[in-house]
Amino acid sequence: MTVELSQPVRERVRSAERVVVFSGAGVSRESGLDTFRGAGGLWERMRPEELATPEAFRADPEKVWQWYAWRYRRVCEASPNPAHKSVARLEAVFPIIRVVTQNVDGLHERAGSRDLLELHGTITRAFCNRCGQRRDMGEAIAESAAAPPVCSCGGRFRPAVVWFGEALPEDVFRQACEATESCDLFLSVGTSGTVYPAAGLIELAHQAGACLIEINPEPTPFSRWMDLRLTSPAGEALPARVEAMERCRCPTT
Ligand code: APR
Repeated sequence: MTVELSQPVRERVRSAERVVVFSGAGVSRESGLDTFRGAGGLWERMRPEELATPEAFRADPEKVWQWYAWRYRRVCEASPNPAHKSVARLEAVFPIIRVVTQNVDGLHERAGSRDLLELHGTITRAFCNRCGQRRDMGEAIAESAAAPPVCSCGGRFRPAVVWFGEALPEDVFRQACEATESCDLFLSVGTSGTVYPAAGLIELAHQAGACLIEINPEPTPFSRWMDLRLTSPAGEALPARVEAMERCRCPTT
């Protein structure tokens, strides 16, 4: 399916030097992974305060660990979909592109995206909550699937994700802000834009005067700011738009 971008968006795409792709759980929906909110979202049927907070881990480490082991297994069974692959393809279209994701599933990296900022950490790693020692999550689960493994320092291993109430990795977030403040084109893909400070990046891109594109079947609090809104699933919408971007940047292709 060949689609064309509107003239104003085409102009912005043609002149863009710096691009940020900001993604959320929706980009992995077509890989079979749940989103958090909206119909069928994880938080519609589970309580985040019992599963994704430091307090929950202190109160019931087995429950939290088993839930993340379940999510980890689902991530391992999943594969990048056309949306992830299209994002990776953008690296050949624009000189500077950073993928800033809220996802912990590692699918952008598996799709080939190289310049990745994982704002909420990764479920593929674990670390000791006392000495900080890091290890592979699969290995930790293999050692103990029912309870978080105990570290040699006496601490417990936990998934290397950012829980509610925890700060984002400082350097990663600083880099995401800098990339967003200086970008010409900002694509927001599959995020409800409701969780801060990550969602603040959309506001930052708007203030910076970037060309804003949103890919989400549902409206978000920022939809009114968008130069282009695509309301079909990202795996359907992105491939054709990336082709259109390639065409308007390298007319011969
Ligand atoms: N393509 C594009 N967007 C989609 C698709 C799809 N196939 N399917 C669903 N969506 C959209 C939904 O309409 C929704 O707006 O993806 C969005 C997912 O929103 P959330 O579930 O809120 O996920 P996200 O924005 O990533 O959440 C942010 O909240 O729970 C925490 O740490 C967790 O990183 C997560 C953060």
